[in-house]
Amino acid sequence: MEPKEQTAEATVSRQLRCLAIGSGKGGVGKTVISVGLSVALVEMGYRVLLFDADLGLANVDLQIGIDPVFTLQDVVYGECPLEQAVASVPGGPDVLAASSGAREMATMSESRREMLVDDLIRFSAGYDFLIIDTEAGIGAGAIAFLQAMPQVNVVVANEPTSVMDAYSLIKILSAEPVPPEIRLVVNSVKTEEEGQRLAMRLNETMKRFLGRTIEIAGIVLYDSVVGDAIRARRSVVHFAPQSAPAIGLRHLAHSIVSSNKARDFGKPMDRSAFGNMATVGQSGAGSEDEK
Ligand SMILES: Nc1ncnc2c1ncn2[C@@H]1O[C@H](COP(=O)(O)OP(=O)(O)O)[C@@H](O)[C@H]1O
Ligand SMILES: [Mg+2]
Repeated sequence: MEPKEQTAEATVSRQLRCLAIGSGKGGVGKTVISVGLSVALVEMGYRVLLFDADLGLANVDLQIGIDPVFTLQDVVYGECPLEQAVASVPGGPDVLAASSGAREMATMSESRREMLVDDLIRFSAGYDFLIIDTEAGIGAGAIAFLQAMPQVNVVVANEPTSVMDAYSLIKILSAEPVPPEIRLVVNSVKTEEEGQRLAMRLNETMKRFLGRTIEIAGIVLYDSVVGDAIRARRSVVHFAPQSAPAIGLRHLAHSIVSSNKARDFGKPMDRSAFGNMATVGQSGAGSEDEK
């Protein structure tokens, strides 16, 4: 299929912007954020490809309400061309879904992998944003994937394990020779103030031990309507457009657009990112227990 028609606002920028949504710990809302951010960017007139790279616990399709006939795995195994595995969501992004437990993808041959990389790069050129929902954790595969991204938005919730694991992830990514731009998305907090305080605490620790701080990309409040939206298999941005989480996700989209207008990403997307994808699922084996 062809990427969606571009609208007036999207013509402002023709450059593909590639953002990964990551987290130290699983179950903190990466998929809620990836899906909601994608829908909010589409509302703003951008063409968005949402890519489920959480091969261990792939569930973008469940949350956005598509029943993909083909997934990334079929593309990898040569069952169908990439175009056929991309599903369109009304009023939402195009979605390249994965299927859970696709760890056998790690065994794909080098030539098959290169073909996939080329396909993805070619195909995503038709979009303004490539939003990538990734695997949680600091396993080698997850890190290899994230470090190759121009920008990583780290999702953190207000629980000690989430904060600790976010810190570990940021620490490891910061130590890369060419680190991605790292920003923080605080999720599931009761108030904006709670989100600000959490970010401030994390930044104090980072300043002390890593000599750096990171910017807050957005704060998404807790609301049980998010659970209702998931059960209805729609993004909360569509399901409850006036709810606090939907408004937070739209703010996040605006913040991402304006920060990217103000400055280019520090580095282009590394071609190896897609190549590394094949190993991402491997370390996902334990991520169910992390929940
Ligand atoms: N802002 C929020 N408000 C309420 N519940 C949320 C919110 N964000 C996430 N959740 C809940 O947390 C669960 C895990 O979210 P999910 O996006 O699947 O996490 P991850 O992708 O990080 O594993 C969801 O099932 C949802 O019910
Ligand atoms: Mg997820």
